[in-house]
Amino acid sequence: MHKIIITGGIGYIGSHTVVEFLESGYEVVIIDNLSNSELSVLEGIEKITNKKPIFYEADICDENEIKNIFHQHSDTKALVHFAASKAVGESVEKPLKYYKNNIGGLVNILTNMLEIGVNNIVFSSSCTVYGQPKILPVTERSPIIKPESPYGNTKKISEEIITDTVNANENLKAISLRYFNPIGAHPSALIGELPIGLPNNLLPFITQTAIGLREKLLVFGNDYNTPDGTAIRDYINVCDLAKAHLFAVERLLDNKSNFNHEFFNIGTGKGNSVLEIIKAFEKSTGQKLNYEITSRRFGDVEQVWADTSFAEKILGWKAETSLEDTVKSAWDWEKKNRGRVE
Ligand code: NAD
Ligand code: UFG
Repeated sequence: MHKIIITGGIGYIGSHTVVEFLESGYEVVIIDNLSNSELSVLEGIEKITNKKPIFYEADICDENEIKNIFHQHSDTKALVHFAASKAVGESVEKPLKYYKNNIGGLVNILTNMLEIGVNNIVFSSSCTVYGQPKILPVTERSPIIKPESPYGNTKKISEEIITDTVNANENLKAISLRYFNPIGAHPSALIGELPIGLPNNLLPFITQTAIGLREKLLVFGNDYNTPDGTAIRDYINVCDLAKAHLFAVERLLDNKSNFNHEFFNIGTGKGNSVLEIIKAFEKSTGQKLNYEITSRRFGDVEQVWADTSFAEKILGWKAETSLEDTVKSAWDWEKKNRGRVE
């Protein structure tokens, strides 16, 4: 049984990934400081899997604590690094919080990996590194541009730090997964997305509106150069996304990587507009959504979706869940989570 450390494993994508690894027979050690998550998630993970991951409530930036944890788990084979701050708007107001947590935390994790000899890392990157691509769909060879936000910049810089570190340490291998837009919840509705306060992202805003927590969804702009005028994204099911981490870790452990640091787009390969997402939600849940078109949101790109052929061919991974099933899973989670609407 391989041991794996998952930082940020109580968070949205992390918790779904912990489930995948536990169900595949890995021993999982979670490090999370609960800065953007709740301990109750651990119960959901345990109910789904009937297994107990080892959990440390610890900050990845804390040098002593992280060193201690790594020394207790020196038999770890790989690490999946989710822990980071992720609110784009907040990062513009508090850039140093983002550089400290996302960059400082990564440096501390890599330092301990090298010290203990944990030789494989999978990193949570983002399609934000491509900005607004000139050619769609976007491939892994598309230009990386100067990010719009400090958050986006931490993803670009993190990828560079990992490249420099693997180049200087021949035993260390890395895979960066560039996620497109993760949505949905585990089909059991025992874990899902738990945004704190007003959600920034589309799907939680839709489900919170439908359940009556918000009055209406504001659709940010219908004057984009897209078929229905609203912005287009590649919405990827969170369980499909979680599985990509398993494929990546197995590729590293099987020594199949062609390069010390590989990059994969993780999306569906299909773009959907905001209005299409609303329609898919209404169709699959039978709920009518109250929404209104308003002006564009500052910093939004017009359209982006992934070319996923490289992930399919090299990683052997492909998104499987339909958009309808995915938005339905988000709704089932919202109902169970809030417990207010049947
Ligand atoms: P999340 O906030 O739900 O999960 C992150 C987890 O990390 C949380 O549980 C939080 O408590 C923890 N954490 C944060 N800072 C920490 C620290 N210093 N020490 C220990 N734990 C810490 O976010 P998510 O949506 O699950 O995202 C996971 C990763 O994927 C992040 O790196 C994020 O930037 C990246 N990503 C997310 C998206 C998205 O749309 N959700 C898109 C692209 C990339
Ligand atoms: N949108 C609305 N109304 C809302 C929320 C969103 O119309 O209330 C629209 C946005 O304008 C955008 C689309 O829905 O066109 C998706 O917006 P999200 O906020 O859900 O997602 P983004 O594509 O803006 O950003 C997400 C993550 C970022 C990450 C980025 C690229 O939130 O962290 O994907 O990976 F950087």
